Amino acid sequence: MATSAAATSSRLQELAQRHLWLHFSRMGAYGEQHEIPLIVKGDGCYVWDDKGKRYLDGLSALFCVNIGHGRQDVAQAGADQAAELAFFTNWSYAHPPAIELAAKISELAPGDLNRVFFTSGGSEAVEAALKMARHYHKLRGNMNKTKVIAREIAYHGCTLGALSATGVTAMRTPYEPFTPGGCHVPNTNLYRMPHGMGVEMLAESVRERIEFEGPETVGAVIMEPVQNAGGCFTPPAGYFQRIREICDEYDVLMISDEVICSWGRLGEFFGAQRYDYQPDIITTAKGITSAYAPMGAAIVSDKVFEPFAQGTSTFLHGVTFGGHPIASAVALANIAVFEEEGILDNVREHEGTFRGMLESLRDLPIVGDVRGAGYFHAIELVRDRETKQTFTHEESETLLRGYLSTELFDRGLICRADDRGDPVIQLSPPLIAGPEQFEEIESVLRPVLEEACNRMHL
Ligand SMILES: Cc1ncc(COP(=O)(O)O)c(C=O)c1O
Repeated sequence: MATSAAATSSRLQELAQRHLWLHFSRMGAYGEQHEIPLIVKGDGCYVWDDKGKRYLDGLSALFCVNIGHGRQDVAQAGADQAAELAFFTNWSYAHPPAIELAAKISELAPGDLNRVFFTSGGSEAVEAALKMARHYHKLRGNMNKTKVIAREIAYHGCTLGALSATGVTAMRTPYEPFTPGGCHVPNTNLYRMPHGMGVEMLAESVRERIEFEGPETVGAVIMEPVQNAGGCFTPPAGYFQRIREICDEYDVLMISDEVICSWGRLGEFFGAQRYDYQPDIITTAKGITSAYAPMGAAIVSDKVFEPFAQGTSTFLHGVTFGGHPIASAVALANIAVFEEEGILDNVREHEGTFRGMLESLRDLPIVGDVRGAGYFHAIELVRDRETKQTFTHEESETLLRGYLSTELFDRGLICRADDRGDPVIQLSPPLIAGPEQFEEIESVLRPVLEEACNRMHL
């Protein structure tokens, strides 16, 4: 690296360590021995760090950059909009990009999801959906339908309302108390079903919980099509259809949290389309703009919107930047890329090859399970494959933070080693990736997992 570039790099590193507060990060871990990774450039499936080293972005920059990095046309759409009208709010006003985008999303979304409430990101989308559900029931005279049923270990965002639905104990306890009403039921971890529990019982647990809480107190169920936290839990056949029936029976709204699972991640515009169910609200963010600008949305059915369309009733909720013109213009350009360049087709064509590559790692004794759908997969790591024995907390620390995270990154692969549930490695590449990138992923994962086996004495 040239001297001036090296000087810039070390200055940025110093400033980052002094002033930047990284999200969900152990800030005490950084120092002279452990630098904060600085990513400075992206193109396609790859990003580069400040020292010029290239990485395969196997996580789409946190499930975001669905069409890949470095699209000048999408960036230009934002710049053009900034020059025309950089900002006006959706609080009582509209502007062309938000209108066009709301109409486009309604066209793509399943069934009668025809109304779009924009936010700045995913937590805000969930927050809006939860408040909408409460208000919807109140407007219809059901004053106590305030509780929300979510699943264990699921992540639905970090704002206090969304956090009450989030089912990750470690993320909840430091911030309690928060909005009351969050109830949790088993997730669809099919690899670790409780002894004697049939898969059909998973949906029934929602029914039982509604009965237990009192149906007059339950307003919504919130679930991801494929649950991210815990490692890409897919639903068993018929699961969401049964959840839909239960929601209808008890007048409970079904919220499909698709902050990750929409915009092609599962090979469809929306995850609900992949599993063929009809939610009342879809929450989305991330891939809606492929993260070329921050944006989220709650996409709402005609049924849910109906009481808000009457008389003086008003959804008393809003965020200044919801439907930001630049983000809206970028989202429209992003969706045009999906439509013109066959992004969904690419996922459908290659997801089998992606899955096959991950399955091929099953010969390694540390690989307990491979699961997921589309371009959204996880490998669960186990101490003993026969008994499915997992690692202890200390072992998991050593394995994930002491070895895998840094080693995979040092070898040029960005993915996620996570233990919000049992330890997993998650991969979620840009939707333009294909066999070449999958081979590259394998060429890093295999030797690193082999070495992990050695280190854990497997
Ligand atoms: C399913 C789900 N819901 C909500 C959120 C929160 O989104 P954001 O980080 O944009 O606030 C996330 C974030 O990853 C998510 O995966």
